[in-house]
Amino acid sequence: MDFKLTEEHIMIRDAARDFARTELLPGVIERDEKQEFPAEQVKKMGELGFLGMMASPEYGGGGMDTISYVLAMEEISKIDASASVVMSVNNSLVCWGLDTYGSPEQKEKYLSKLTTGEKLGAFCLSEPEAGSDATSQKTTAIDKGDHYILNGTKNWITNGNSADFYLVIAQTDREKKHKGINAFIVEKGWEGFEVGPKEQKLGIRGSDTHSLNFNDVKVPKENRIGEDGFGFKFAMKTLSGGRIGIAAQALGIAAGAYELAKDYSKQRKAFGTEICNHQAIAFKLADMHTSIEAARHLVMKAAWDKDQKQNYDLSGAMAKLEASKVAMDVTVEAVQVHGGNGYVKEYHVERLMRDAKITQIYEGTSEIQKIVISRSILKD
Ligand code: CAA
Repeated sequence: MDFKLTEEHIMIRDAARDFARTELLPGVIERDEKQEFPAEQVKKMGELGFLGMMASPEYGGGGMDTISYVLAMEEISKIDASASVVMSVNNSLVCWGLDTYGSPEQKEKYLSKLTTGEKLGAFCLSEPEAGSDATSQKTTAIDKGDHYILNGTKNWITNGNSADFYLVIAQTDREKKHKGINAFIVEKGWEGFEVGPKEQKLGIRGSDTHSLNFNDVKVPKENRIGEDGFGFKFAMKTLSGGRIGIAAQALGIAAGAYELAKDYSKQRKAFGTEICNHQAIAFKLADMHTSIEAARHLVMKAAWDKDQKQNYDLSGAMAKLEASKVAMDVTVEAVQVHGGNGYVKEYHVERLMRDAKITQIYEGTSEIQKIVISRSILKD
């Protein structure tokens, strides 16, 4: 067992840290306030290779391992969780899904533009009546020979308006239930495809969340991903890896809040000394540090499982469940350590607390992770 990062891992982590501090930190409060998508910063993330980290170099990807990806996700998330969800969806749902299951033509046409940030991707599974219950897809794609006709509505789609290419899950044969579901690549601008209103959100307010409407959208057959009926498995397999990315995001939010709280406690004085010298605060920091380290081990283990080509459904679900809980607990405590200042925007921790909540909801709620975990541990 070796807990040491390689030199390459350290380089990637430091590059992400520098980028977050120099490019994302300025303006993060304003973007949150205005619900403004970090378009310029996302473009730079693409140029630096943060949007297709694990994808094949043949298609413009970085060919990196999952450990590198989670290290970068953690650093970006410490500063700007809105930017890191863009990164997470593009890397682990869209690029990974296409790289692993797309045809050579799909990879050439779509993946090679997504890995470089020239184009952005979105993953469209959730619907008004199919969130956790993902097999209940109401969106339909009817086979018309050389194309499908797509109809339906998708909800809470990250990169909803900013994306160019959308992976859309739809029911092609209701009789076959989840075996009659397919995944399609849909381009923005196709006739009948409308981006709905932007959601007004509690957290990750810089990320661009929309509903999408598909009204008789013609999707060429060559844009179906994999064999007929593969769509639900595609979504589940892709989400298993996506959950490691969100776990790393949650870890980053927690670690970012903890670092701010620790620094603040060394400067702020009360009762004649820095507040970190009061056990009430020092013990909070001890608890925060310990829970973050525990979550980090789970996140790294899940990433390692994926890199070792071992099953990571269980470890990814555990990492997301725990890291998102730690993100919630630690950010609440970080606000508390900051006292009145914690409630004020310029100290950043109130934003991190709002951002933390979504990590217990998207890419499978904590309750869904418990379904995945309990089914996995009870099956043998
Ligand atoms: N890998 C491969 N196949 C899988 C799988 C996995 N990880 N998990 C399930 N499957 C397969 C099952 O084997 C089964 O196939 P067979 O019948 O051939 O065996 C099929 O999928 C159906 O599985 P279940 O019977 O277990 O289905 P279920 O209805 O009980 O649901 C669930 C399972 C785990 C609860 C699933 O519905 C789920 O994960 N729900 C949550 C959905 C979710 O995470 N949504 C997030 C939206 S995306 C998002 O948030 C992105 C963003 O923008 C940030």
